[in-house]
Amino acid sequence: MPEKPTLRGKTVILRPIGPEDAEAMYASLSDKEAMQLTGTKQSFSLEQVQAFCARVPTEEDRYDFAITLPGENRYRGEVVLNDIDWDNRSSNFRIAISGTENREKGYGSEATELVLEFGFKTLNLHRIELEVYDFNPRAQHVYKKHGFIQEGIRRDVLLWEGKFQSAIVMSLLQPDYLARQSRARFESLETPRLRMRRLRDDDLAPLVAYRNLPEVAWMQLWENYDTESAKKLINGCKVVEPFTANDSFQFAVALKESDELIGDLYFKMDEAGKQAEIGYTFDPRFQGKGLATEAVKTLINHAFKEQGLHRIYGITDPRNAPSINLMKRLGMKQEAQLRKSLWFKGEWADDVIFAVLAEEWKTF
Ligand SMILES: CC(C)(COP(=O)(O)OP(=O)(O)OC[C@H]1O[C@@H](n2cnc3c(N)ncnc32)[C@H](O)[C@@H]1OP(=O)(O)O)[C@@H](O)C(=O)NCCC(=O)NCCS
Repeated sequence: MPEKPTLRGKTVILRPIGPEDAEAMYASLSDKEAMQLTGTKQSFSLEQVQAFCARVPTEEDRYDFAITLPGENRYRGEVVLNDIDWDNRSSNFRIAISGTENREKGYGSEATELVLEFGFKTLNLHRIELEVYDFNPRAQHVYKKHGFIQEGIRRDVLLWEGKFQSAIVMSLLQPDYLARQSRARFESLETPRLRMRRLRDDDLAPLVAYRNLPEVAWMQLWENYDTESAKKLINGCKVVEPFTANDSFQFAVALKESDELIGDLYFKMDEAGKQAEIGYTFDPRFQGKGLATEAVKTLINHAFKEQGLHRIYGITDPRNAPSINLMKRLGMKQEAQLRKSLWFKGEWADDVIFAVLAEEWKTF
């Protein structure tokens, strides 16, 4: 087998793991947090780790990289493509950075980026998959940021200190990886008065404030909208591109002049990337001025004309007249009323579905 390569990034250098890494790898096995986050229960002797490090450089179904920094050779963790199935061009991925002092410095993100580039562009893999425990939001964030999509959940696969934990299965396919590379990061959609952009950290206070107003919350799924939920929403949208199949995105709606947040739009794509559900929440101070219509109209127009969607629908409660009126104003037609189909704030509620098709969408 030809010698395994070294991958160089701006901050980290990934070099093939070899016998010289055995002691550092052995020491990393006493990192309790990493052991839990990777679900490692087995204990290994130094001799076992030495044998492993001596073996992996020549194994043909894996690439084990030590994460190092320029000017030093020290093992700070590892990132691995393993169980490579050459017939199906598929591989597993895993990463662990040793020691809290090395985490959250961007090393994991850059190492992931380098290995994905190597896997998809050099090895020509079609699929890279991984598993991440549901109690590991940091790793989930990093994987999502690089385009991994959740495929499913393996329920209760890990028994850790008396409690069962589930694992999320994620994967990234080569065509999606390459498409992401060539696609510019979403910045904004503009209307005469509004800018639909990514949610930002400084939107936190207004987002929590208007989502908590009783006249806003009464028809939404939440009772109290807390800061933690808002932070999660904002962070989630930093790493997702809108109009990604099987993913949702929350657009911030801001006044063009001041960039002040006045509402947000939900947009959830189906698996095929051809249909989407929309939703909207607006600060009541900015309702009744045609701003919501302006925002949603522009989003739907963009989705049909630029993103090639086929159908867009909204689901609301029949008691929510402003929402129904908005959808009617946009030319959406009622398709169904699902009777007592949603358990909502202590009672069964109806859902009405309005939709518009690309072929009937009028250009405004
Ligand atoms: C998961 C891991 C590889 C990530 O690498 P890292 O170098 O620590 O991460 P980075 O500094 O590159 O990035 C961390 C990102 O997570 C975000 N983050 C941190 N804590 C978070 C949390 N609780 N929820 C959501 N996101 C979080 C950070 O804000 C940062 O986001 P940004 O890049 O968008 O700014 C590393 O922390 C690690 O090895 N952890 C222990 C083992 C492990 O969990 N392995 C994965 C098993 S599946």
